[in-house]
Amino acid sequence: MCGIVGAIAQRNVSPILIEGLRRLEYRGYDSAGLALVGDNGLQRRRAVGKVAALADALAASPLDSRLGIAHTRWATHGVPAERNSHPHASRTVAVVHNGIIENHEALRTRLIDAGYAFESETDTEVVAHLLQQQIDAGSSLRQALCAILPELRGAYALAVIDANSPDHLLLARKGSPLVLGVGIGEHFAASDALALLPVTNRFVYLEEGDIAELRASGYEIFTADGTMQQRPVRTSTLSPDAVDKGPYRHFMTKEIFEQPVALAQTLQGRTAHGRVLEACLGPQAEALLARVRNVHIVACGTSSHAGMVARYWFEQIARVPCQVELASEFRYRNPVIAPDTLFITISQSGETADTLEALRHARQSANVAAALVICNAPESSLVRESDIALMTHAGPERSVASTKAFTTQLMALALVMLLMARRSGAIDAEREAELVAQLEAAPRLVEDVLAQNDRIRQIAESLLTKQNALFLGRGPMWPVAMEGALKLKEVSYVHAEAYAAGELKHGPLALVDEDMPVIAVAPRGDLLDKVKSNLQEVRARGGELLVFADAEAGFRDEPGVTVFGMPHGAELTDPIVYTIPLQLLAYHVAVLKGTDVDQPRNLAKSVTVE
Ligand code: AGP
Repeated sequence: MCGIVGAIAQRNVSPILIEGLRRLEYRGYDSAGLALVGDNGLQRRRAVGKVAALADALAASPLDSRLGIAHTRWATHGVPAERNSHPHASRTVAVVHNGIIENHEALRTRLIDAGYAFESETDTEVVAHLLQQQIDAGSSLRQALCAILPELRGAYALAVIDANSPDHLLLARKGSPLVLGVGIGEHFAASDALALLPVTNRFVYLEEGDIAELRASGYEIFTADGTMQQRPVRTSTLSPDAVDKGPYRHFMTKEIFEQPVALAQTLQGRTAHGRVLEACLGPQAEALLARVRNVHIVACGTSSHAGMVARYWFEQIARVPCQVELASEFRYRNPVIAPDTLFITISQSGETADTLEALRHARQSANVAAALVICNAPESSLVRESDIALMTHAGPERSVASTKAFTTQLMALALVMLLMARRSGAIDAEREAELVAQLEAAPRLVEDVLAQNDRIRQIAESLLTKQNALFLGRGPMWPVAMEGALKLKEVSYVHAEAYAAGELKHGPLALVDEDMPVIAVAPRGDLLDKVKSNLQEVRARGGELLVFADAEAGFRDEPGVTVFGMPHGAELTDPIVYTIPLQLLAYHVAVLKGTDVDQPRNLAKSVTVE
C-alpha cells in the first residue's frame, strides 16, 4: 500500500526522502512523488512507475530543501498517472496520504462550489484544498489540520507541509500506520521504521488520533482538541542492512532461505525440557486463557492459510473447537462467537485493515475471553489492540509474497495449540515432549529441502509453458496446497487453484488434461492412501503429476509423474516443511517468466485499506 516519508532537517532532505521511498518499495505501488519547500516555494516532482523514475526526474532537475514529504502511491481512486500521484497540492500546501477518505465526494463538491479547482481523481486532493481554505481564512497549518480532521471520514496517515511555514511538518494518524523518527537536530516521518533506518534508530509510533508537529529541533504530539500526548521513544536494534538483499537476487529468495533461522528464532526461549513455556504468552496470559473453551481464528491471505492449518491441530491434538475465517468476511457479518473464545488474529504486518476491523468487531462480543495476535511487527496496531501478542521472530519481510512469515506463524500457532492441549488435558507430558521435539526439528528439515533448490529450479522449467495448475492436499496439507497455489499465481501470474484432494471428483477433475499440471503434497500419514487414490484418478485422465512426497511413501518417477522426495517429517512439521518446495517452485517459475518477483503487479505488501 501507499508509503509515506517526511523530513525536516538542517541539510538537504531530498536524498533522505528518495532512499526512504526505495525502502518502502516492498509495500507495492505504481507511482511516486515528492514535494519540497525551497527558495522558490513549493516544488513537486512526480513520476509513474518505479522510485528510480522519480530519482531520475529529480537528478535531471535537482531540488535542495530542508523540508519535504514523499510518497509511493498504490492506486485506489483514479488510474496510476502523474496527475493522481501524491503529493497533492493546493496553492502553498502539499499533502501525502495513506488510507481512504470515504466522504471525499461530498467534500469535493463543497470545495468546487467554493472555487477550488481539482487536478486529480483522488480522494486525497480534498485534504490539500481543505487545509488551504483554512489557511486562507487566517489559520496556521497546525490550526488548519486540527480543524479539518473531524471532517474526514475513513482512514488516514497524513503528512502535510505549507510553503509559508518552512520550519515545520505536520502528521496525523487514524487507521493507517505512521512512525516519527527522532534525530539530532532533525526529525523524520514514515509509514514504516525501515524507511528511516539510514538516518535514525529512534522511533515514536503514533497512536490512533495522534497529530504531531515536527521541527528540526523537536516535536510535539497532541490530539485534535489540543491535548498534549506523551509517547515512548523506542530504539530499534535493526541495522540499516537488515533490509538489503545480501547475496540474493530477490527478497523472496532471501526470505525463503532465511526460514531455518526464522523458525529457530520463533521457537527460541519458548520451550524447555520438552515443554512449552507459558511465559511465552506474557504474564497476563495464564489468567486470560484459564476460561478459554473455544478458538476463533481470523486473518487474510497467506495468514489465513496458517490459521486453516492450525485449525486441524487445535481440534485433532488439543481437542478444542476451532473456527477459521477470512477477516474481510467476518467483519461484515453478525457472527455468533461461542462462549469463552480465544479470538486469534494472524498477520505479518499487524496493519491489515480487514484483520484489524475484524478484531474490533469481535471485541463487541462478551464471549471473547481474550484476543491473541500472532504477528511479525511488534509496534503494529494489531499488537497494540490485542490482549496477548505472540511475535514471530521472522525479521523484516520485504517481498510482497509472504514466505518466512507463513512458516513462523505455523510455529507460533503450534506453541499456542500445545499450551491449550496441556491445559485441556488432551496431551500428557510425554506427548508434549514428542511434539516439542517435532518443532525443534523443523529448521533442520527445512534446510534439507532448501538444499534441493537446483532440482526445484529444473522442475520449474517444465511448468513454464503452462497457463494453469491444480494443487491438491488433504487434511492440514489442503491449506498448504492453497498457499502453494497463492504463491504461484501471485508471483508468476499462472492461474492456480487448490482443492482438498477428496473434492477432485466433485468437479475440478473435469479440468484435468495434459495441459493442467496437478501438484500434490502427500506426506506419510493417515491420509496418504486416500491421496494416492485421488492421484490415480488424475493419471487415468492423462493429467501430469508433480508429487511432493516422503521418499518412503511409495511414489515412483514414471512418464507423466515427477516425484520430489521430501524428508521424513511429522504432524507438526509437515505443513511447514512441505510449504518450502512450493515457495521455491513459484519463485523459479516467476524468475523464468521474468515477472517483477518482489513487487508483483497490482499487489501491495501491507493492505491498509479494505
Ligand atoms: C501473501 O503472499 C500475500 N501477499 C497476502 O495474502 C498477505 O498474506 C495478506 O495480505 C495478509 O497480510 P498480513 O499477514 O500482513 O495481515
